Amino acid sequence: MKTLDKKVAIVTGATSGIGARIAEAFVHEGAHVVLAGRREAEGESKASSLGETATFVRTDVSVEEDVEALVAHTVERHGRLDIMVNNAGGPGNGASVTGFDGEVFQRTLAVHVHGTMYGTKYAARQMLAQRSGSIINMASLAGKVAGWSGLDYSTAKAAVLHLTRCSAVDLGEHGIRVNSEPFSTLV
Ligand SMILES: NC(=O)c1ccc[n+]([C@@H]2O[C@H](COP(=O)([O-])OP(=O)(O)OC[C@H]3O[C@@H](n4cnc5c(N)ncnc54)[C@H](OP(=O)(O)O)[C@@H]3O)[C@@H](O)[C@H]2O)c1
Repeated sequence: MKTLDKKVAIVTGATSGIGARIAEAFVHEGAHVVLAGRREAEGESKASSLGETATFVRTDVSVEEDVEALVAHTVERHGRLDIMVNNAGGPGNGASVTGFDGEVFQRTLAVHVHGTMYGTKYAARQMLAQRSGSIINMASLAGKVAGWSGLDYSTAKAAVLHLTRCSAVDLGEHGIRVNSEPFSTLV
């Protein structure tokens, strides 16, 4: 028996990078995986390369309706949701204090913070009904250590770490674990 046999997982930002590798690893361990991202061609191609247990749903995590539809599709297809990986989001632009750009900052927050929170919200609604589940939020050393990355990205990742703690307190008593990677042990 494999580690994730018959588990149902969503991985956001799975069209490339770390998310694509997570999706591969989950399928290898026996999970049914729904890959999410904005680029349809890459997502469809990645999912079909992983075989029958992987599918792709076009999703912009900064759009709440997209994330709601992603979770609804997953539950309709598989009947449950065991693992939500909120991974979507790229590197920051290296902004400094004097180079701060409000629009760029809002876009960074929309993907990393709103996106993670929408994923947590809709996954939690399903997991509460099951009274089980695991939510994993992709953080960064930049959220702990100042100067590691740009101001906007670092601030967004600090928020991801803290919303992870708050969500864990909110959901833990209902059998739902919420952790961040890296730094699960610091949360
Ligand atoms: N690489 C590192 O060294 C590192 C270190 C610490 C933390 N992280 C974190 O790990 C995560 C993945 O990083 P990565 O290096 O794999 O980045 P990446 O190679 O740039 O991949 C980013 C992924 O996120 C997706 N994405 C971006 N914006 C999105 C949106 N609005 N809605 C849905 N999907 C979106 C992209 O797909 P589409 O373009 O198809 O939407 C892509 O699949 C990020 O949260 C990043 O902050 C990375």
